[in-house]
Amino acid sequence: MAFKTITVDVDDHVCLIRLNRPDALNALNTAMLRELAQAVDEAERNERVRCLVLAGSEKAFAAGADVKEMSEKSFVDVFTEDLFGREAHALERCRKPIIAAVAGYALGGGCELAMMCDFIIAADTAKFGQPEINLGVVAGLGGTQRLTRFVGKSKAMEMHLTGRFMDAEEAERSGLVSRVVPAKKLMEEVMTAAQKITEKSAVAVMAVKESVNRSYETTLSEGVLHERRLFQAMFATEDQAEGMGAFVDKREAQFRDR
Ligand code: HXC
Repeated sequence: MAFKTITVDVDDHVCLIRLNRPDALNALNTAMLRELAQAVDEAERNERVRCLVLAGSEKAFAAGADVKEMSEKSFVDVFTEDLFGREAHALERCRKPIIAAVAGYALGGGCELAMMCDFIIAADTAKFGQPEINLGVVAGLGGTQRLTRFVGKSKAMEMHLTGRFMDAEEAERSGLVSRVVPAKKLMEEVMTAAQKITEKSAVAVMAVKESVNRSYETTLSEGVLHERRLFQAMFATEDQAEGMGAFVDKREAQFRDR
Protein backbone atom coordinates (compact mmCIF):
# COMPACT_ATOMS: atom_id res chain seq x y z
CA MET A 1 0.00 0.00 0.00
CA ALA A 2 1.40 3.37 -1.02
CA PHE A 3 1.07 6.08 1.58
CA LYS A 4 1.21 9.83 0.94
CA THR A 5 1.94 11.29 4.36
CA ILE A 6 4.04 8.57 5.94
CA THR A 7 6.65 6.08 4.78
CA VAL A 8 6.71 2.49 5.95
CA ASP A 9 9.66 0.07 5.74
CA VAL A 10 9.83 -3.42 7.16
CA ASP A 11 13.33 -4.75 7.62
CA ASP A 12 14.68 -7.42 9.94
CA HIS A 13 11.37 -7.78 11.82
CA VAL A 14 11.20 -4.02 12.54
CA CYS A 15 8.55 -1.83 10.97
CA LEU A 16 9.81 1.74 10.68
CA ILE A 17 7.04 4.27 10.19
CA ARG A 18 8.13 7.80 9.40
CA LEU A 19 5.81 10.79 9.52
CA ASN A 20 6.39 12.62 6.28
CA ARG A 21 4.84 16.04 5.83
CA PRO A 22 8.06 18.06 5.75
CA ASP A 23 6.41 21.31 4.62
CA ALA A 24 4.28 21.37 7.75
CA LEU A 25 6.84 20.02 10.26
CA ASN A 26 4.87 16.76 10.19
CA ALA A 27 1.72 18.39 11.55
CA LEU A 28 -0.85 15.65 12.07
CA ASN A 29 -3.85 15.91 9.79
CA THR A 30 -6.69 13.46 9.27
CA ALA A 31 -5.04 11.91 6.21
CA MET A 32 -1.79 11.27 8.06
CA LEU A 33 -3.43 9.83 11.16
CA ARG A 34 -5.60 7.57 9.01
CA GLU A 35 -2.53 6.31 7.19
CA LEU A 36 -0.69 5.89 10.46
CA ALA A 37 -3.58 3.88 11.91
CA GLN A 38 -3.63 1.70 8.82
CA ALA A 39 0.14 1.17 8.89
CA VAL A 40 0.03 0.21 12.57
CA ASP A 41 -2.84 -2.22 11.96
CA GLU A 42 -0.97 -3.79 9.05
CA ALA A 43 2.24 -4.08 11.08
CA GLU A 44 0.28 -5.74 13.84
CA ARG A 45 -1.16 -8.28 11.42
CA ASN A 46 2.19 -8.86 9.69
CA GLU A 47 3.81 -11.87 11.35
CA ARG A 48 7.25 -10.72 10.25
CA VAL A 49 6.96 -7.55 12.33
CA ARG A 50 8.05 -7.93 15.95
CA CYS A 51 8.62 -4.28 16.86
CA LEU A 52 7.50 -0.92 15.47
CA VAL A 53 9.42 2.35 15.40
CA LEU A 54 7.67 5.68 14.91
CA ALA A 55 9.89 8.55 13.77
CA GLY A 56 9.66 11.96 12.16
CA SER A 57 12.37 14.02 10.50
CA GLU A 58 15.49 15.64 11.92
CA LYS A 59 13.61 18.91 12.38
CA ALA A 60 10.33 17.60 13.74
CA PHE A 61 8.81 14.43 15.08
CA ALA A 62 5.51 16.30 14.72
CA ALA A 63 4.69 19.94 15.51
CA GLY A 64 1.17 19.09 16.66
CA ALA A 65 -2.19 18.57 15.10
CA ASP A 66 -2.66 20.53 11.88
CA VAL A 67 -3.92 23.89 13.05
CA LYS A 68 -4.90 24.86 9.51
CA GLU A 69 -7.19 21.83 9.26
CA MET A 70 -8.76 22.49 12.67
CA SER A 71 -9.12 26.25 12.68
CA GLU A 72 -12.52 26.49 10.96
CA LYS A 73 -14.19 23.59 12.74
CA SER A 74 -17.07 23.89 15.21
CA PHE A 75 -17.70 21.94 18.39
CA VAL A 76 -20.25 19.79 16.56
CA ASP A 77 -17.70 19.01 13.83
CA VAL A 78 -14.94 17.86 16.16
CA PHE A 79 -17.35 16.10 18.52
CA THR A 80 -19.20 14.10 15.90
CA GLU A 81 -16.05 13.32 13.88
CA ASP A 82 -14.19 12.53 17.13
CA LEU A 83 -11.35 14.40 15.41
CA PHE A 84 -8.21 12.23 15.48
CA GLY A 85 -9.60 10.10 18.31
CA ARG A 86 -10.50 7.04 16.29
CA GLU A 87 -7.13 7.00 14.51
CA ALA A 88 -5.20 7.35 17.76
CA HIS A 89 -6.82 4.18 19.07
CA ALA A 90 -4.83 2.09 16.56
CA LEU A 91 -1.64 3.13 18.31
CA GLU A 92 -3.09 2.86 21.79
CA ARG A 93 -4.37 -0.67 21.30
CA CYS A 94 -1.39 -2.09 19.35
CA ARG A 95 -0.06 -5.10 21.27
CA LYS A 96 3.36 -5.11 19.63
CA PRO A 97 5.95 -2.74 21.11
CA ILE A 98 6.33 0.71 19.56
CA ILE A 99 9.38 2.90 20.11
CA ALA A 100 9.15 6.63 19.41
CA ALA A 101 12.31 8.13 17.91
CA VAL A 102 12.03 11.86 18.56
CA ALA A 103 14.24 14.53 17.02
CA GLY A 104 13.27 18.20 16.88
CA TYR A 105 9.77 19.31 17.75
CA ALA A 106 7.30 16.99 19.45
CA LEU A 107 4.53 19.45 20.26
CA GLY A 108 0.86 19.13 21.12
CA GLY A 109 -0.49 16.09 19.29
CA GLY A 110 3.11 15.22 18.37
CA CYS A 111 4.13 14.98 22.00
CA GLU A 112 0.93 13.04 22.69
CA LEU A 113 1.67 10.63 19.83
CA ALA A 114 5.16 10.00 21.21
CA MET A 115 3.69 9.35 24.66
CA MET A 116 1.27 6.77 23.21
CA CYS A 117 4.31 4.73 22.19
CA ASP A 118 5.89 2.32 24.68
CA PHE A 119 9.02 4.37 25.21
CA ILE A 120 10.69 7.39 23.75
CA ILE A 121 14.32 7.69 22.76
CA ALA A 122 15.15 11.33 22.07
CA ALA A 123 17.82 13.08 20.06
CA ASP A 124 19.60 15.90 21.88
CA THR A 125 17.70 18.25 19.53
CA ALA A 126 14.29 17.15 20.81
CA LYS A 127 11.84 19.71 22.14
CA PHE A 128 8.65 18.61 23.83
CA GLY A 129 5.67 20.83 24.56
CA GLN A 130 1.93 21.09 24.94
CA PRO A 131 1.34 24.57 23.53
CA GLU A 132 -2.41 24.15 22.91
CA ILE A 133 -3.05 26.85 25.52
CA ASN A 134 -1.61 29.37 23.02
CA LEU A 135 -4.36 28.39 20.57
CA GLY A 136 -7.10 28.83 23.14
CA VAL A 137 -7.66 25.10 23.60
CA VAL A 138 -6.44 22.19 25.71
CA ALA A 139 -4.64 19.01 24.65
CA GLY A 140 -6.94 16.44 23.05
CA LEU A 141 -4.98 13.25 22.56
CA GLY A 142 -4.18 12.44 26.16
CA GLY A 143 -1.56 15.10 26.90
CA THR A 144 -2.98 16.27 30.22
CA GLN A 145 -3.26 12.66 31.37
CA ARG A 146 -0.09 11.04 30.03
CA LEU A 147 2.33 13.92 30.58
CA THR A 148 1.17 14.13 34.19
CA ARG A 149 1.87 10.43 34.69
CA PHE A 150 5.31 10.78 33.07
CA VAL A 151 6.63 13.93 34.74
CA GLY A 152 4.31 14.59 37.70
CA LYS A 153 1.65 17.20 38.26
CA SER A 154 3.78 20.28 38.81
CA LYS A 155 5.81 20.08 35.61
CA ALA A 156 2.86 18.85 33.53
CA MET A 157 0.69 21.67 34.81
CA GLU A 158 3.38 24.24 34.06
CA MET A 159 3.92 22.88 30.54
CA HIS A 160 0.19 22.88 29.75
CA LEU A 161 -0.54 26.24 31.38
CA THR A 162 2.40 28.20 29.96
CA GLY A 163 3.01 26.27 26.73
CA ARG A 164 6.77 26.30 27.31
CA PHE A 165 8.94 23.68 25.60
CA MET A 166 11.09 21.15 27.43
CA ASP A 167 14.48 20.26 25.97
CA ALA A 168 15.80 16.71 25.71
CA GLU A 169 17.94 16.94 28.82
CA GLU A 170 14.99 18.08 30.95
CA ALA A 171 12.79 15.43 29.34
CA GLU A 172 15.21 12.70 30.37
CA ARG A 173 15.69 14.13 33.87
CA SER A 174 11.94 14.22 34.43
CA GLY A 175 11.20 10.75 33.07
CA LEU A 176 9.47 11.63 29.81
CA VAL A 177 12.09 9.84 27.68
CA SER A 178 14.06 6.71 28.39
CA ARG A 179 17.32 8.28 27.16
CA VAL A 180 18.89 10.99 25.03
CA VAL A 181 21.39 10.30 22.27
CA PRO A 182 23.27 12.54 19.82
CA ALA A 183 20.97 13.45 16.92
CA LYS A 184 23.23 11.77 14.37
CA LYS A 185 23.01 8.46 16.24
CA LEU A 186 19.26 8.54 16.96
CA MET A 187 18.08 6.05 14.37
CA GLU A 188 21.03 3.72 14.93
CA GLU A 189 20.34 3.62 18.68
CA VAL A 190 16.60 3.18 18.22
CA MET A 191 17.04 0.40 15.66
CA THR A 192 19.49 -1.37 17.97
CA ALA A 193 16.93 -1.25 20.78
CA ALA A 194 14.21 -2.46 18.40
CA GLN A 195 16.44 -5.25 17.16
CA LYS A 196 17.08 -6.40 20.72
CA ILE A 197 13.34 -6.65 21.32
CA THR A 198 12.84 -8.70 18.15
CA GLU A 199 15.18 -11.36 19.55
CA LYS A 200 13.01 -12.00 22.64
CA SER A 201 10.02 -14.26 22.92
CA ALA A 202 7.10 -12.39 21.34
CA VAL A 203 4.82 -13.88 23.99
CA ALA A 204 6.90 -12.49 26.85
CA VAL A 205 7.25 -9.14 25.05
CA MET A 206 3.48 -8.88 24.73
CA ALA A 207 3.04 -9.79 28.39
CA VAL A 208 5.56 -7.15 29.50
CA LYS A 209 3.77 -4.48 27.50
CA GLU A 210 0.39 -5.49 28.87
CA SER A 211 1.66 -5.58 32.43
CA VAL A 212 3.52 -2.25 32.43
CA ASN A 213 0.56 -0.53 30.80
CA ARG A 214 -1.71 -2.05 33.43
CA SER A 215 0.11 -0.01 36.05
CA TYR A 216 -1.59 3.10 34.64
CA GLU A 217 -5.05 1.62 34.92
CA THR A 218 -5.26 -0.08 38.29
CA THR A 219 -4.21 -0.16 41.94
CA LEU A 220 -0.78 -1.44 43.03
CA SER A 221 -2.11 -4.66 44.52
CA GLU A 222 -4.29 -5.45 41.48
CA GLY A 223 -1.42 -4.61 39.15
CA VAL A 224 0.99 -6.84 41.07
CA LEU A 225 -1.56 -9.65 41.03
CA HIS A 226 -2.04 -9.24 37.28
CA GLU A 227 1.74 -9.36 36.81
CA ARG A 228 2.06 -12.47 38.96
CA ARG A 229 -0.60 -14.28 36.94
CA LEU A 230 1.23 -13.33 33.74
CA PHE A 231 4.51 -14.55 35.23
CA GLN A 232 2.86 -17.83 36.16
CA ALA A 233 1.20 -18.10 32.74
CA MET A 234 4.62 -17.85 31.08
CA PHE A 235 5.33 -21.30 32.53
CA ALA A 236 2.80 -22.67 30.05
CA THR A 237 5.06 -21.53 27.18
CA GLU A 238 7.87 -23.40 25.49
CA ASP A 239 9.86 -20.16 25.49
CA GLN A 240 10.05 -20.21 29.30
CA ALA A 241 11.55 -23.70 29.21
CA GLU A 242 13.89 -22.66 26.40
CA GLY A 243 14.96 -19.39 28.07
CA MET A 244 15.66 -20.91 31.45
CA GLY A 245 17.12 -24.09 29.94
CA ALA A 246 19.49 -22.02 27.78
CA PHE A 247 20.65 -20.08 30.84
CA VAL A 248 21.36 -23.27 32.76
CA ASP A 249 23.14 -24.80 29.72
CA LYS A 250 25.13 -21.58 29.17
CA ARG A 251 23.93 -21.15 25.57
CA GLU A 252 21.89 -18.61 23.58
CA ALA A 253 18.14 -19.10 23.84
CA GLN A 254 16.25 -19.82 20.60
CA PHE A 255 12.77 -18.49 21.20
CA ARG A 256 9.95 -19.76 19.00
CA ASP A 257 7.06 -17.62 20.28
CA ARG A 258 5.28 -20.64 21.67
C1 HXC B 1 -0.12 23.30 10.79
C2 HXC B 1 2.10 23.82 11.03
C3 HXC B 1 2.09 23.38 12.36
C4 HXC B 1 0.86 22.89 12.89
C5 HXC B 1 4.06 24.07 11.89
N1 HXC B 1 3.33 24.23 10.78
N2 HXC B 1 3.33 23.55 12.88
N3 HXC B 1 1.00 23.78 10.25
N4 HXC B 1 -0.21 22.86 12.07
N5 HXC B 1 0.75 22.40 14.14
C6 HXC B 1 3.78 24.77 9.49
C7 HXC B 1 3.89 26.27 9.52
O1 HXC B 1 2.64 26.88 9.32
C8 HXC B 1 4.84 26.51 8.36
O2 HXC B 1 4.13 26.40 7.14
C9 HXC B 1 5.78 25.33 8.44
O3 HXC B 1 5.08 24.32 9.17
C10 HXC B 1 7.07 25.66 9.17
O4 HXC B 1 6.75 26.20 10.42
P1 HXC B 1 7.34 27.57 10.97
O5 HXC B 1 6.43 28.07 12.02
O6 HXC B 1 7.63 28.50 9.84
O7 HXC B 1 8.72 27.06 11.58
P2 HXC B 1 9.52 27.65 12.83
O8 HXC B 1 9.55 29.16 12.76
O9 HXC B 1 10.81 26.91 12.84
O10 HXC B 1 8.66 27.30 14.11
C11 HXC B 1 8.45 25.94 14.49
C12 HXC B 1 7.31 25.81 15.56
C13 HXC B 1 6.04 26.50 15.03
C14 HXC B 1 7.79 26.43 16.86
C15 HXC B 1 7.12 24.31 15.77
O11 HXC B 1 5.77 26.03 13.71
C16 HXC B 1 4.84 26.25 15.89
O12 HXC B 1 4.70 26.85 16.95
N6 HXC B 1 3.93 25.39 15.40
C17 HXC B 1 2.66 25.13 16.04
C18 HXC B 1 2.86 24.26 17.27
C19 HXC B 1 1.54 23.97 17.97
O13 HXC B 1 0.83 24.90 18.37
N7 HXC B 1 1.18 22.70 18.15
C20 HXC B 1 -0.04 22.27 18.78
C21 HXC B 1 -1.17 22.15 17.78
S1 HXC B 1 -2.70 21.76 18.58
P3 HXC B 1 4.00 27.64 6.10
O14 HXC B 1 3.19 27.07 5.00
O15 HXC B 1 3.36 28.73 6.88
O16 HXC B 1 5.43 27.93 5.73
C22 HXC B 1 -2.63 20.11 18.90
C23 HXC B 1 -3.85 19.49 19.57
C24 HXC B 1 -3.91 18.01 19.41
O17 HXC B 1 -1.68 19.45 18.62
C25 HXC B 1 -5.26 17.45 19.84
C26 HXC B 1 -6.01 16.74 18.76
C27 HXC B 1 -7.27 16.04 19.20
